[in-house]
Amino acid sequence: MYILGLTTLGDSAATLIHDGEIVAAAEEERFSRRKHHSGFPYQATQFCLDHAGITIADVAHIGLYWKPWVLRHKAMQALKAGLVSREMFKARVDRGVAQVGDSYLGMFRHPRRIRQHFGQSNFRFHFLEHHQCHAASAFFVSGFERAAIMTWDGTGEDTTTLFSRGVNNSLEVLKRIKLPHSLGQFYSAVTNFLGFDMFGGDEWKVMGLAAYGQPEYYDFFAKRVLSVNGDHDFHLNIRVLDHHLAKRYLFGEEIGKALGPPRQPGEDLTQRHWDIAASAQKVLEDTALHLVRGLHERTGEKNLCMAGGVAFNSVMNGRIMTQSPFKHYFVQPAAGDAGCSLGAALIIHHTLLRQPRRFRMEHAYYGPGFASERCAAALQQAGLKFETLPDEELLPRVALLLSKGAIFGWFQGRMEFGPRALGNRSFIADPRRADMRELLNKKVKLREWFRPLAPSMKEEVAAEVFGRPHHDPFMITVLHVADDMRERFPAVVHVDGTARPQTVSQRTNPRYWQLIHEFEKLTGCPMLLNTSFNIQEPIVCRPEDAIKTFRGANFDGLVLENNLVLRR
Ligand SMILES: [Fe+2]
Repeated sequence: MYILGLTTLGDSAATLIHDGEIVAAAEEERFSRRKHHSGFPYQATQFCLDHAGITIADVAHIGLYWKPWVLRHKAMQALKAGLVSREMFKARVDRGVAQVGDSYLGMFRHPRRIRQHFGQSNFRFHFLEHHQCHAASAFFVSGFERAAIMTWDGTGEDTTTLFSRGVNNSLEVLKRIKLPHSLGQFYSAVTNFLGFDMFGGDEWKVMGLAAYGQPEYYDFFAKRVLSVNGDHDFHLNIRVLDHHLAKRYLFGEEIGKALGPPRQPGEDLTQRHWDIAASAQKVLEDTALHLVRGLHERTGEKNLCMAGGVAFNSVMNGRIMTQSPFKHYFVQPAAGDAGCSLGAALIIHHTLLRQPRRFRMEHAYYGPGFASERCAAALQQAGLKFETLPDEELLPRVALLLSKGAIFGWFQGRMEFGPRALGNRSFIADPRRADMRELLNKKVKLREWFRPLAPSMKEEVAAEVFGRPHHDPFMITVLHVADDMRERFPAVVHVDGTARPQTVSQRTNPRYWQLIHEFEKLTGCPMLLNTSFNIQEPIVCRPEDAIKTFRGANFDGLVLENNLVLRR
């Protein structure tokens, strides 16, 4: 039985499952080429159907990641709390009704628009709670028979943090924290205070900057902005830092007095900005640990699953994994709202249809893939000179060029689901060269110098590199690199001595593992620098996207499956 899950606002995405196993999953942005595409995922849905070789008539159930009627409560709460006036409230509702296209209220029309666009079908349509979709996206594919689950983000319909428990094929909600108390909105507001853009997904930048600062403003944040209380709870003081005002770069008097003026976009970064980032990051981590400890106390479980946009904070994840009482962890790699499309499909399969669990998510390669011949045709079409080589020749040759300082666009297999490139749509380079980070950030990716870059390492060496066993195929945890290792791979060790590794398994990605192995044979270095294959755009999806990026940019080589292109 086929079940389709959909995320239709924010990071739109579609996931198709068959008998509980993921068949295909992708974000709409990869097709539309618009970052964080928001709107019905027509192309991602079509890809899922095509990949399975079915039509919409073969889909028995469709799950949506949102209950649009709960929005009324959210707007009502804002009204009650005095955050919006009666006039503004009425205007919002009118606007919502008018924009039935891509608004929350427009979701009621989804079943009809699916039939109009994809053809007649007798599917049953389900509106599902946002945070339960996040929770399902992590727990049901974690491989754990039972686990505590923490999901946290900006907000769902009105819940921002959900404590739950999964046992076999059921989910039990334990506690909700609702608006305006939101860890995601706190971090987004700080992102804008620092002159970045919460809508551009710039929260990563704050996390990267934090490593350069000291938590000088910690007390202010912990006392006046984001405070914890005894009952495994937290309180966000929106009178001091309001996400809705921060969206428009507006900040109140108190925060200005405590932190100094907000940074204007493009203004130089100074120690004060690094210290603000470090303080906000530490307050987030401490609050998260407080909540996780509470969840542990409440459940007594050994395993912890996490999802929701806040679970992208890989530094926070690293602290949770090394300092919380849980023993085993699973973080959904598509932790943001795109992953809710997977969760929606899984809720239908497991909790509504009561089907048992068999599937475990061990990799994220569920997007489109392209045969080598198809890639060669695209190169021919583009008029690029290339060689087609078997892996026995291609991999050692690329490894050799990497060891001499070349930067490659590496394109193989099916595209990753979730925002991390995991060796199928990646830029790769030599991590031993200290200047490689700046070279990649500034010359290739055209972005800020301080953004950390991460290593893809053979999973066999992770314990040695970190001084503790570590398994993370999804690059979602930051850990301290063992002291004697830091100098060996300077391009992938952040200023504070940490790294965010992908552990590459010979079983789940044999070709990428083999490439790293060839590099190790030449250099003794069992890892490559890996960053996503995109320049100011969504990650490349089709061979044509990769070729376009190669042509407009400044890197040395391109591999599309077995085809090698070298820039003169
Ligand atoms: Fe979310």
